[in-house]
Amino acid sequence: MRVFLTGATGFIGSYLVPELISAGHHVVGLSRSDAGAEALTGAGAEVFRGDVNDLGRLRSAAETADAVIHAAFNHDFSNLKQHSEADGKVIKALGDVLAGSDRPLVVTSGTGLARSRTGSPAVETDDHVTSAEFPRAASEEAADALIASGGNVMVIRLPQVHDTRRFGRITQHIKLAQQQGRVVYVGEGRNRLPAVHVSDAVHLYRLAIEKGQAGARYHAVGEEGVALCDIAEVIGAGMKVPVESITPQEASDYFGPLANLVTIDLAASSALTRQQLGWDPHGPDLLTDLRNLDYTLDRSTS
Ligand SMILES: NC(=O)c1ccc[n+]([C@@H]2O[C@H](COP(=O)([O-])OP(=O)(O)OC[C@H]3O[C@@H](n4cnc5c(N)ncnc54)[C@H](OP(=O)(O)O)[C@@H]3O)[C@@H](O)[C@H]2O)c1
Repeated sequence: MRVFLTGATGFIGSYLVPELISAGHHVVGLSRSDAGAEALTGAGAEVFRGDVNDLGRLRSAAETADAVIHAAFNHDFSNLKQHSEADGKVIKALGDVLAGSDRPLVVTSGTGLARSRTGSPAVETDDHVTSAEFPRAASEEAADALIASGGNVMVIRLPQVHDTRRFGRITQHIKLAQQQGRVVYVGEGRNRLPAVHVSDAVHLYRLAIEKGQAGARYHAVGEEGVALCDIAEVIGAGMKVPVESITPQEASDYFGPLANLVTIDLAASSALTRQQLGWDPHGPDLLTDLRNLDYTLDRSTS
């Protein structure tokens, strides 16, 4: 298949490009920079130059594709609402080009947006929160609209995606620990974050374009939930700093804007995804990758 990939130069894209090429697909990767274009060429992809928000150019790239994977996102969280609304427009533009065909569009969301109905791990069939509650849900809402009009659109919800350098939100915990000289968790720290090794996550994207079902939500979850206290212990050992429990009242002093997230249990299941696509994640687990992180690198100012 000729696959148009946005976000091809990002963390996930850098693993997804070789995953698709080694399976025999032709990848056309979006890049807005010379450095990105060079990396894509080196990885064996065709480069399509442009900004993801230039919807005219985006449409022209999608027109010639057999499948589209959308993994670009601007992670400047000070403007999350604006970037999320822009992402909704990108998804609509891509979906409109593919409408009326069976060419798949796979869009990216997060497991944290699923609203668990029972208090047990979030499942693929759970509704998502609304963009009024959390702006990032604009991407799920744009996908909903395309699915309702018959598009071959799927959503992949990602948990904390990791290798030994990148850890999703946990990277912020490491940065805070470097700034403050200690690692903390709230209360007993038994609340959990789901996780997946990046190599497993990108394999799921490939399965989705090859045999996914229109309208499906897939959870790229390798581990349903890793307790925050266990994550803190590994970071503390790696950095050789104290690990402490704090009260919910103390959380905002330490965590700042992250404080309202660090007490929530975000466990998520991928049982349906595994069953429907035969996906079988087996990459290193989160704590193993965290133990292999280079803690001498200073992340406190990044
Ligand atoms: N990593 C995780 O743990 C995680 C967890 C949940 C959800 N997700 C979602 O998964 C997707 C991929 O994440 P990631 O970790 O790979 O993110 P990333 O490393 O920050 O990469 C973002 C990608 O988007 C591109 N991009 C951003 N703004 C653009 C623009 N205006 N025009 C063209 N390209 C633009 C970037 O291009 P440049 O290289 O030019 O900057 C880069 O390729 C995102 O939707 C993210 O929200 C990730």
